[in-house]
Amino acid sequence: MNPRLFGSFVEHLGRCVYTGVFEPGHPAADAEGLRTDVLDLVRELGVTAVRYPGGNFVSGYRWEDSVGPVADRPRRLDLAWHSTETNRFGLSEYIDFLRKVGPQAEPMMAVNLGTRGVAEALQLQEYANHAEGTALSDLRVSHGDKDPFGIRLWCLGNEMDGPWQTGHKTAEEYGRLAAETARAMRQLDPGVELVACGSSSQSMPTFAAWEAKVLEETYELVDYISLHAYYWPEDGDVDSFLASAVDMESFIENVVATADHVGARLKSKKRINLSFDEWNVWYLPEWEKYSKGIDQGDWPQAPRLLEDCYSVTDAVVFGSLLIALLRHADRVAVACLAQLVNVIAPIMTEPGGPAWRQTTFFPFAQAARHGRGQVLDVRVDSPTYLTRKHGEADLLHATAVRAEDGSVTVFAVNRGRNQALPLEVRLNSLGLTSVVEHSVLADADPDARNTLADPERVAPHQAEGTTLTDGTLTATLEPLSWNVIRLA
Ligand code: AHR
Repeated sequence: MNPRLFGSFVEHLGRCVYTGVFEPGHPAADAEGLRTDVLDLVRELGVTAVRYPGGNFVSGYRWEDSVGPVADRPRRLDLAWHSTETNRFGLSEYIDFLRKVGPQAEPMMAVNLGTRGVAEALQLQEYANHAEGTALSDLRVSHGDKDPFGIRLWCLGNEMDGPWQTGHKTAEEYGRLAAETARAMRQLDPGVELVACGSSSQSMPTFAAWEAKVLEETYELVDYISLHAYYWPEDGDVDSFLASAVDMESFIENVVATADHVGARLKSKKRINLSFDEWNVWYLPEWEKYSKGIDQGDWPQAPRLLEDCYSVTDAVVFGSLLIALLRHADRVAVACLAQLVNVIAPIMTEPGGPAWRQTTFFPFAQAARHGRGQVLDVRVDSPTYLTRKHGEADLLHATAVRAEDGSVTVFAVNRGRNQALPLEVRLNSLGLTSVVEHSVLADADPDARNTLADPERVAPHQAEGTTLTDGTLTATLEPLSWNVIRLA
């Protein structure tokens, strides 16, 4: 697996940036205004690539507004989220944030292909990455950033298939623009890695035809095609919601099939990999309801938007989505949990107040720490249950990862709401002798959540009775649970 599978996403949306990662004047803020309590949690979460600055926001983004002396930065209307963008936090602050997170954090920058094009993408690339001696690189140096930012991974726009996107395009229009932008960016630096926009979800009416057309235009010029997916219990259907990873896995497999089909038609030896650069549980209908009521005359700064508060059930689904990504690590090279702080996020903050972990924090942090190495080809034989949306679904969803030191971690979800699930894993050839731990996220109240008032209500606990005998692991998975079983 590629460590970039544990990426995340910081968008100028709601309070992800302002009063999220950045809050000058907060008691925990450093000299640059970054919240050190949030930095600590981001490190603990273990995120790698951090996508920025959007999302829908990027389709109105003017990179030059976000650099240089703070006092000179213009305030702009952000059409995507009906907010006012002050540009107080910009490109340099984003890079500073990543450097403070640590060496595992890598920039993943999106360029605006909604309202802008090739020229602006090139200008941003030169400003960010060229060492010195040209107008744009010297401008960066004059802004106090002597060292280039070294951004290798770039997204060519965002969700360009979506009619909600400012500057939305047809596949033909976007494919041509993405191809020409990619060609030019590679002229500046052949070492960049580029992500073309795929579909905003598998249910988009243009799904698959979009990928085929875009890749026809860009196949030899890009490295990845993107996927985005959000899940919630539609019409309160929790059983289908618990099997959301069925959709995620079929989405991945269908994009792989489409990309390989285009490659075959083009007689190309190259293989396009996948960047699942937005995924999460998101109670999308809540946002749709809210957005209909927005006062069109009001353009607030950093309003509270998309601040979903996640339950144990949400965290179990979320863990299953992580398992789906790991199970497809042969083709999913990048994945970004959308988003990092406050906005559909594993980390929440209160302005002037504390920061805390949502229920979804735990599966991500555990997978990012113990899911490094070689993903094993796990064959699952499980009882099933009936869902309205996905038909028969396995009660057990699982994968396993072998680390460099030979230790193995099994990640397993019991989707059953009422029954414990006996688990047996045959690991005979792997030379393992002991159970290091069996951590479980489950609760007598599946609706339990961590909140400002009770920020530590939910946390993983240790399971009893998990054994490893003659290469066979035996455990019991609590109803509706996320499990991390570490073996050495
Ligand atoms: O992550 C929230 C939004 O979801 C992003 O801005 C957009 O790309 C997607 O629709």
